[in-house]
Amino acid sequence: MRIGSVLENQNIEKRIAITPEIIKKYISLGFEVILSKNYGSHLGINDEEFLALGVKITDNDTEILSSSEVIVQLGILSDDKCNLIKENQTLIGVLDPYNNKDKLEALSKKKINIFSLELLPRITRAQSMDILSSQANLAGYKAVVESFSNFKKAIPMMMTAAGTIPAAKVLVVGAGVAGLQAIATAKRMGAIVFATDVRMASKEQVESLGGKFLTVEGSENLETEGGYAKEASDDFKKKQEELLSETLKKIDIVICTALIPGKKAPLIIKDNMVNNMQAGSIIYDLAAIQGGNTAFTEVDTIVEKNGVRIMGESNILNKLPVSASNLYAKNVFNFVDNLLDKENKKININLEDEIIEKTLIK
Ligand code: NAI
Repeated sequence: MRIGSVLENQNIEKRIAITPEIIKKYISLGFEVILSKNYGSHLGINDEEFLALGVKITDNDTEILSSSEVIVQLGILSDDKCNLIKENQTLIGVLDPYNNKDKLEALSKKKINIFSLELLPRITRAQSMDILSSQANLAGYKAVVESFSNFKKAIPMMMTAAGTIPAAKVLVVGAGVAGLQAIATAKRMGAIVFATDVRMASKEQVESLGGKFLTVEGSENLETEGGYAKEASDDFKKKQEELLSETLKKIDIVICTALIPGKKAPLIIKDNMVNNMQAGSIIYDLAAIQGGNTAFTEVDTIVEKNGVRIMGESNILNKLPVSASNLYAKNVFNFVDNLLDKENKKININLEDEIIEKTLIK
């Protein structure tokens, strides 16, 4: 059995799906590993390191894509690369099934086994494969670091002989995986942290991290059975707007993380709310690529409105690609391990396994 991965388009994706740490594990499962030349060079991992671990390195991506039983990537490959993959091969990645529906269905019709890891069920058994959690956790941390480094004041309260600097006030919108890590990171730096979410279960989690939860008056709990958020009613949105409008006047930094799976991100911080914020404040919109939680968000641009800076990037994980790759590669390995019929040394598409059934593109 052969598992392979080709170098991603470096302008879009700096993470890699196979790290040196994981090679031995693939080999002990019975795989031969094949990678593109310079696969990890941009992360300080040279080809010699992979070669010493027994990896085959080639500058011929066609060979990797046409000869590997299993291909593991980050994003969807270009059309010409996808065309090299044939029946019974398996492609695993974060393939954005909502936006790439037609392309993925066409591949699936060619009897290629395509697995998109965003679709993993949030069940205990899938936790070690949960790329959404591993990556969102790092994104939440990095959004705080990025916004703090753009903020022109100190974060913690400082009492000095020259006077007192007040602690910065941070609001986290959406207290899922990224939001909770943002709260923890901002608290560690000494900020006063507020957070809000439509799922009432998150209140206790926010409070356990030392954050103050802002509850929308009379709100129903908008949590699905799978633990995700439902789209809020107009009444809820109005009440949330009233609550946040007042709060935002006193907030220095906002970290937006609110998402609804498969839908455009909810617009939570409207233009008038931004206009009422203090000059010098920062909004980091982690939902930028899904349309943004803030009125003026532009992907990969810092927008300035009345002195408030609004930031949002297409892929914040490119700013910590080594950590993100290490976790992603482990998640993917655990997924492949679960997919393998170890006795017969082949991929087993067991649709009775919820993990396999839910992630397979049909
Ligand atoms: P996500 O990335 O889909 O959304 C981020 C957050 O935004 C969520 O907390 C959501 O409730 C919130 N949100 C959506 N619309 C909002 C609005 N209009 N206003 C304010 N907040 C809004 O969610 P994520 O981070 O992937 O987590 C989803 C759930 O999955 C959570 O309940 C989390 O605890 C759970 N989870 C369970 C795991 C497991 O059991 N294995 C592993 C990881 C997460």
